[in-house]
Amino acid sequence: QNKYLAMTPPMGWNSWNTFTWNINEELICGAADALCASGLKDKGYEYVVIDDCWSLKQRDENGRLVADPEKFPNGMKAVADYVHSKGLKFGMYSCCGTHTCAGYPGSFEHEFVDAETFASWGVDYLKYDNCYKPKHIDGEILYKRMSLALRNCGRDIVLSACNWGTEDVHSWIQGSGAQLFRSTGDIQDNWQSVKNLFLSQLDKTAYSGPFCHNDIDMLIVGMHGSSNNEFIGALGACSDLEYRTHFALWAIMGSPLMIGCDVRKMSAATLETLGNEDLIRINQDIECRGPYCIRQWNNPENVMALVKPLSDGSLAICFVNLSETRSEMSLQFWDLGIPYAANMGLEFYNCYTKENEGKFAERYVAQIEPHDTMVFIAKPAKLK
Ligand code: DGJ
Repeated sequence: QNKYLAMTPPMGWNSWNTFTWNINEELICGAADALCASGLKDKGYEYVVIDDCWSLKQRDENGRLVADPEKFPNGMKAVADYVHSKGLKFGMYSCCGTHTCAGYPGSFEHEFVDAETFASWGVDYLKYDNCYKPKHIDGEILYKRMSLALRNCGRDIVLSACNWGTEDVHSWIQGSGAQLFRSTGDIQDNWQSVKNLFLSQLDKTAYSGPFCHNDIDMLIVGMHGSSNNEFIGALGACSDLEYRTHFALWAIMGSPLMIGCDVRKMSAATLETLGNEDLIRINQDIECRGPYCIRQWNNPENVMALVKPLSDGSLAICFVNLSETRSEMSLQFWDLGIPYAANMGLEFYNCYTKENEGKFAERYVAQIEPHDTMVFIAKPAKLK
């Protein structure tokens, strides 16, 4: 086995946000094709993940899960083989309870046989949900159990634990052996949801690390109200600017970058947001440090800078304006560890405009539009 799986946050595509139950072989293979043709694969998006609703409602006579032959007429191994033939990795979904959230069989007390089945199909990643969990058993036990099953199934399979931040998951998940933990309820395709999920995790940045990443849920970038799920699509959609902010926040927070839109039909703006190589570099930095937050003194609830130390000594800095009015962010370098007297400043590179903005002393001040972000990579530099 590889020594470490998912050392950096996994990147890829998942079927749930847009398609929910409406999945089949053609869609999954089409998504794999689109990741390649759009150039997103070359930028690091490598997992193609089938979410809930892929199986029959009954296990077979040997207690094994069975792919729905109407949706997957050639079986799951054929889908996995196709995804692999594209140089991508294949992900699937199950649940720690008796049923999945949509009512299909869950893996409770079938963990080891299911891990074996997933391995035999060529699965590389398992999203493991939290519905219908027997009340008398702690989630911690069930996630540990599936982790052990996967670690002993003979194939490298990432465990993406999806328990929605319940049972203080951040406090025990590193010990469970999972590579990801879902810390939030489900994302919706609207600004309020993005803002709430982000704010809910600001005090948890220290719990995400190179062996187990905090998953703030899948991306809604580019969905534009296209979900066939009423909950996800409630309250309309985001603007392209809001999608860009959502992506920047997820990137600097170290969340996995799992695309949720229909990758076969992406606009130029969607592709530009998802394909921003500087944002991806920030997300994929090998040290996987969570950012710290510096708030604007006169508008601390809404305007802030997230600062993430990168392994080459530079700092990724994201200014965000969560308010409804144009606002100022004044970042004092003192707060980043740079003393006034040291003849040291910061050289700013703008990750949106791709311009080097030169050296700044003592502070960087910017006006930010409502719901917008500015993202920089800043490097300490002598002033004279
Ligand atoms: C709940 C999860 O949080 C979602 O991401 C999705 O996997 C659904 N369950 C599927 O039923």
